[in-house]
Amino acid sequence: MKVTVFGSGYVGLVTGACFAEAGNNVLCVDIDAGKVARLQKGEIPIHEPGLDAVVKRNFDKGRLRFTTSAEEGISHGLFQFIAVGTPPEEDGSADLSHVLSVAETIGRHMTEYRIIVDKSTVPVGTADKVRERIEHTLAERGAKIEFDVVSNPEFLKEGAAVADFMKPDRVVVGTDNPRTAELLKNLYDPFTRNHERMIVMDVRSAELTKYAANAMLATKISFMNEMANLAERMGADIEKVRIGIGSDPRIGYSFIYPGAGYGGSCFPKDVKALVYSASEYEFDAQLLKSVESVNKRQKQLLFRKISAFFDGSLKGKTIAIWGLAFKPNTDDMREAPARDLMEALWAAGAKVRAYDPVAMTEARRIFGERKDLALVEGAEQALDGADALAILTEWQEFRSPDFEAIRDKLRHPVIFDGRNIYDPGMVKSFGLRYFGVGRGETLAV
Ligand SMILES: NC(=O)c1ccc[n+]([C@@H]2O[C@H](COP(=O)([O-])OP(=O)(O)OC[C@H]3O[C@@H](n4cnc5c(N)ncnc54)[C@H](O)[C@@H]3O)[C@@H](O)[C@H]2O)c1
Repeated sequence: MKVTVFGSGYVGLVTGACFAEAGNNVLCVDIDAGKVARLQKGEIPIHEPGLDAVVKRNFDKGRLRFTTSAEEGISHGLFQFIAVGTPPEEDGSADLSHVLSVAETIGRHMTEYRIIVDKSTVPVGTADKVRERIEHTLAERGAKIEFDVVSNPEFLKEGAAVADFMKPDRVVVGTDNPRTAELLKNLYDPFTRNHERMIVMDVRSAELTKYAANAMLATKISFMNEMANLAERMGADIEKVRIGIGSDPRIGYSFIYPGAGYGGSCFPKDVKALVYSASEYEFDAQLLKSVESVNKRQKQLLFRKISAFFDGSLKGKTIAIWGLAFKPNTDDMREAPARDLMEALWAAGAKVRAYDPVAMTEARRIFGERKDLALVEGAEQALDGADALAILTEWQEFRSPDFEAIRDKLRHPVIFDGRNIYDPGMVKSFGLRYFGVGRGETLAV
C-alpha cells in the first residue's frame, strides 16, 4: 500500500519505517529541510534502538523515501498520516497549528480520495476540525473530492518505539466508516498477526483513549511519588511498599516506580491539555490537576535535598549529574527532570558536570556553551572536582558503578539517587551517604 507520513519525528519516522518494513511504499514528509537532508543521506536524527537498521534496510530497497514536498506526499499515499508535533501552549492547551496546517495543505493539493489519519495526540474534536479545514480548502478551490478522517492515536514508548510499533498492545482506530476501518485493518495486519489487536470505535472515543492512557500512567507515577514522600517522613521504605502493593494483581508492578518526577514529550503536555480540554467543557479536572502539581513539586525534590544537604549554600559547589534524558534508551530531553535540577542549581550559583550515554548532543543543542556546565564524555569524568553526585536517569550503565571511585572523587561522598537504582545499605557500606526517593536517610525539605 502507498502511505504518506507527515512529520519525521519520534512517531512519524518510526511509523513510516515500520510500515515500509512490512512491504508498503512509504513517503515521509517533513518541513524541516535539514532533517530531511540528513535522512536522505541515511543519518537518523534521533536515538531510538533498532530504528537505524529498519530505516536503512527500507531506504536501500526504495520503500522508504523522504521529502519536503507536501504536494508529492499528498499525491503519493492513499493513507495520509499526520504525525506532527502538538506542543503545549502557554495555557496548557495543545497547539494544533501544525496538524491543521497539514490538513489545509492536503485540502489544497488533493486530487483523489484520501484517508487522513490523525496519529498525533490531539484533543477530542480535532478530527472534526481537520475535516472542516480540508472541506473549507477544497471549497475554496471549487473541488469536490471524497475523503475520510480517522483517529489512530499512537501508544509507542520512546526507547522501545520500534518494538512497540511492530508488536503493539492494541491499535486504536476511531472511525464511523466500516470500509475505512477495513483498509486500516489491512495496513496493520502484519503487526497484529497472532491475534486481532485492532479496536475500532467512534472518533471521539479514540481521541480520548490516548489522553486517558497517558493520564492514567502519569497518575500512577504521581501517586507513587506521593507515597514516597510519605514513606520518607514516616520512616518507611517506599521500595518495600512498592513490592508489597505490586503483588496485588489489581495494582500490578508496572509503572509504580517512585522517582524525580515524570518528564518527556507526552505525559506533562497531555495531562495539561486534558485539564484544559476539561475546562472547555466547564469541568474542573481536580485529579488531573493534582497529578500535574504533585509532579511539579517532585521535579524540585532532588534540588531541595541537595540544597538542604549543603545548608542552602550552593554557590561555588559543583554537582555531578548522571543521566539527562527523561528516561533510558532515548536522547529526548523534553521536560526531563534533569533540566529542572540543572536550572535550579544554576539559579543557586552551583555548577554542573553532566554525562548521559546518548543525550549529549541534545544537551549541547539545548544549553549551548555556558561556564556553569561541563558536558563530559564519561560517568567517572563527571565526578572530577564535583561535590556530590545526582542520578537522574536509570541507564543500565549507572547501575553497578565503582562506588570506591565515587567516594574518592567526590569532595563530599554523597549520592542523591533520583531513580532509586542503588541499595542504600550497599552504598553506605562504601562510606558514601545516600539520599533516595522515599527511602534512605532523610533531610528536612
Ligand atoms: N514521542 C512519543 O513518544 C509519542 C508517543 C505517542 C504519541 N506522540 C504524539 O505524536 C506527535 C508527534 O510527536 P513526536 O515526538 O514524534 O514529535 P517530534 O517533535 O519529534 O516530530 C514532529 C515532526 O513534525 C514536523 N512537522 C511540523 N510541522 C510539519 C508540517 N506542517 N509538515 C510536515 N512535518 C511537520 C517537525 O519538523 C518534526 O520533525 C505528538 O502529537 C505527540 O504527542 C508522541
